[in-house]
Amino acid sequence: MKPLSVLLNISKIAHKIFANEISIILIMSFKQEGKKNFPTWPIYDNNEINALNNVIKSGKWWCGSPGTHQGENVWIFQEQFAKFQESDYCIAVFNGTVAIEAALIALGIGFGDEVIVSNYTFVASASAVIATNAIPIFCDINADTFVMDVDLIEKLITKRTKAIIPVHLAGNPVEMDKLREISDKYNLKVIEDCAHAHGSIYKGKKLGNWGDSGTFSFQASKVLTSGEGGAIICNNELLADTIYSYIDCGRKKNGYGYSHFSYGTNYRMTEYQAAILLEQIKKFPAQHKLRNENAQYLMKELNAIEGIKTMKITSGATKLGWYVFPFIFDPQKFGGLTKEEFNTQLNQNGIPTDNCYPPLHSLDCFKEVKLRKGISYSHANWGGNKSNDKYFPVVSDIYSRSIEFPQEILLSSRDQLDLIIKFVKSLKS
Ligand SMILES: Cc1ncc(COP(=O)(O)O)c(C=O)c1O
Repeated sequence: MKPLSVLLNISKIAHKIFANEISIILIMSFKQEGKKNFPTWPIYDNNEINALNNVIKSGKWWCGSPGTHQGENVWIFQEQFAKFQESDYCIAVFNGTVAIEAALIALGIGFGDEVIVSNYTFVASASAVIATNAIPIFCDINADTFVMDVDLIEKLITKRTKAIIPVHLAGNPVEMDKLREISDKYNLKVIEDCAHAHGSIYKGKKLGNWGDSGTFSFQASKVLTSGEGGAIICNNELLADTIYSYIDCGRKKNGYGYSHFSYGTNYRMTEYQAAILLEQIKKFPAQHKLRNENAQYLMKELNAIEGIKTMKITSGATKLGWYVFPFIFDPQKFGGLTKEEFNTQLNQNGIPTDNCYPPLHSLDCFKEVKLRKGISYSHANWGGNKSNDKYFPVVSDIYSRSIEFPQEILLSSRDQLDLIIKFVKSLKS
């Protein structure tokens, strides 16, 4: 071997060792400094504790009815959330799943009706449809925005179709103007699943106001939370009254408490939930602003890394709820790392990630059709052989290589975000 090539080889080996050392140092410093400084969720202070104490001491442990208030928290929260979401009416319930169910029931969806649902979502968007004895039909997603591909909707419409449930994943809007053109053309109801979309704005209008109604979740991981909780918003008084009646035992608003004029159930929100939400909603605007700023920064920096593509914000969206921060990676550009390995690397080094939702068609309950007795699901585009990834190619591909940061990462400092970016880069070496 010539002296020059010996020297070159030594320098190559030294470079490799050095590069490895840098990433080890990076990982170690991340473990020492990064992990402990990540914001944890939920964020609360004495105000939440006092609010709960006040409910207990008041002796008014439930909200009562519109005519005879017991506690005040639920009623005040409903007003505040309607105002915040710029809608006319808000009905608070005890979680986001029953919020979807109540909206469907109040809009007249029921036995044997088909409801088109985004395939990339939490099971609740479809299980709420099942609860009404209707049948969810799954719609594939857009490869860039990760939300329902509105260009696929018309192909899924049959004479049984009665409604559409667009899900604004991560708070990223489905193209609601296009969707409304389709729903108007076929006379379909629209229930926006806004469980991730608190404060999201599309073409100047807050999400939840594009459809007949919008439903929200305040479950523990959500950007506005009371551990469990939900709400339905709408801009139609008759619909609001029908929803209210359904979630309050079939009572009429301001009617006699033992008069049950229609079928209803009890999905009322508790005073404890509302008391916490009234404190959390005060904290929300500053957190929302920070999430949006940090998401912009992360998108710019992560997209500059070859092999990383972050969720593209739908054109026309000005603010997102940013419940999670999703991105996909190209395994080839990361030395063949699998999704599990990518996640493990991040988690073992103190960077929390969320598990993304497996597409609905792949869930056991839909694959094996373990659902409601007496309902035929034979027309559905899932179940048995139909629950095949090849029929839902986009969501199957995205899911196979997607990673999500939980929303609290977006409340980190820029230094923390820089550490994450550096760490992701180090996974390429
Ligand atoms: C998209 C979506 N829809 C509905 C729900 C249901 O909300 P909840 O858990 O409050 O019932 C969730 C909750 O995670 C969700 O992510």
